[in-house]
Amino acid sequence: MRISVLGTGYVGLVTGAALAHLGNQVVCHDIDRERIDLLRAGRLPFYEPHLDEVVQPARRRGNLIFVSGEFALLNEADVIFICVGTPSLPGGKGIDLRFVRAAATQIGEILEPGRRRVVVNKSTVPLGSRCWVETLVKEVLHRRGRRREMELATVSNPEFLREGSAVYDVFFPDRIVIGTEDEWAVETLHELYRPIIERSFTPPASLAAAPSGQFSPVPFLWVSPAGAELIKYAANAFLATKISFINEIANICEVLGADVREVATGLGLDRRIGPEFLAAGVGWGGSCFGKDLNGLMADARAYGYEPALLRAVFDLNYRQRMVVVKKLQNLLKTLRGMVIAVYGLSFKPQTDDLRDAPSLDVIKKLVSLGALVRVFDPVATGAFRRLCPDPEVKVCHDPDELVEGADGLVIVTEWPQVKELDWERVANRMRRKIIVDGRNVLAGGGLEQYGFAYQGVGIPVRPG
Ligand code: UDX
Repeated sequence: MRISVLGTGYVGLVTGAALAHLGNQVVCHDIDRERIDLLRAGRLPFYEPHLDEVVQPARRRGNLIFVSGEFALLNEADVIFICVGTPSLPGGKGIDLRFVRAAATQIGEILEPGRRRVVVNKSTVPLGSRCWVETLVKEVLHRRGRRREMELATVSNPEFLREGSAVYDVFFPDRIVIGTEDEWAVETLHELYRPIIERSFTPPASLAAAPSGQFSPVPFLWVSPAGAELIKYAANAFLATKISFINEIANICEVLGADVREVATGLGLDRRIGPEFLAAGVGWGGSCFGKDLNGLMADARAYGYEPALLRAVFDLNYRQRMVVVKKLQNLLKTLRGMVIAVYGLSFKPQTDDLRDAPSLDVIKKLVSLGALVRVFDPVATGAFRRLCPDPEVKVCHDPDELVEGADGLVIVTEWPQVKELDWERVANRMRRKIIVDGRNVLAGGGLEQYGFAYQGVGIPVRPG
């Protein structure tokens, strides 16, 4: 099929590249010309494992092209995906839909009658947005005198991609959700996704095979537009709740004297609960959870419902970021003048994304307490420097430089490299041997033998 994708962020680029890999003719649009120039030059605007090996072959074959401003190409498409950003408005006041509005208007300006088109919204949006997009497109078409002849369906088709595993997730989803009233649009999208649903495609070489035990064929869920929009919000709200829940249990473990890792194992063995998303620590971050919780809460409140549980999930998460700072304060007392090494900046491993990263709040708090902060991350130091030019925070090039003369080391992101550190070497370089592990990745690793005082989250401290 001929596909147009508006927006080349994580969702748009991964979706466009995957659909090109499956043999479709894909045009990716972005209003950011620099980004398009980069993509045309064969480079990616962000770090995402396996994406390059999906993008480059398709680009070389000519069935994935990148354009900026050439909206006329939209008219060639059978299916148009809206994958533009939907950031939060300041102060948790809902979602900024200006890019979705611009995309919908553009579609209405360009489309000419002649054949059926499906407009798919993949951006995560407040309830009712599918209807809003449809109205916007149709209003513009009406103004141009094209509305009557146009056969057009609008669909909500939320994405569930995790950064760092986005390529895997797009090829091996748990489900595909389609929200629309138009049966022919459902058929079109079923056809488009058929290789994924039936698992009949050849995956990119380096990608692991589909996990056994996954549903095959992939469940293809046709629901109402509001249902589809709410499935996306509810899925992220539930995942965020699961993490905030285990963090609350971790905090209770600390005061009552149990180990949250044991509790999580026992909990996760209940099939109704499941073992995933029960890792306690400094809490969740990233571009989705906070924004989607805010979006869902704003929607609920606008209609007079106070979402008390979601509010608590949200508040607990942002409080949780400070647990590592409190632990440092307990261990070192006054932090002014102390050298604190922060390992991990990205909101999770395998990405350089710093959006709503717990590290940023932790660093800000440490700086405000007068600590001399040093940071290191295997991939996100460049992104960090651009975001936070504060000269008070020293960006280090390697773990040796990070820990040299440090009074405390804090782990904020669970990069696998953390476990591989040579702890004797680290111990010899630090001024005080204190480790606060905000992800519990070093628990049980025998750090005590090198003389470290170690504290995780929700793990009892052994009496010294
Ligand atoms: C999430 C959803 O998983 C995805 O379906 C949706 O499309 C976008 O939002 P993502 O933001 O990439 O994806 O991150 P995810 O892997 O879900 O992790 C979110 C945060 O939760 C990270 O900061 C991670 O460190 C944290 N987390 C995760 C925990 O603190 N504990 C856990 O047990 C799991």
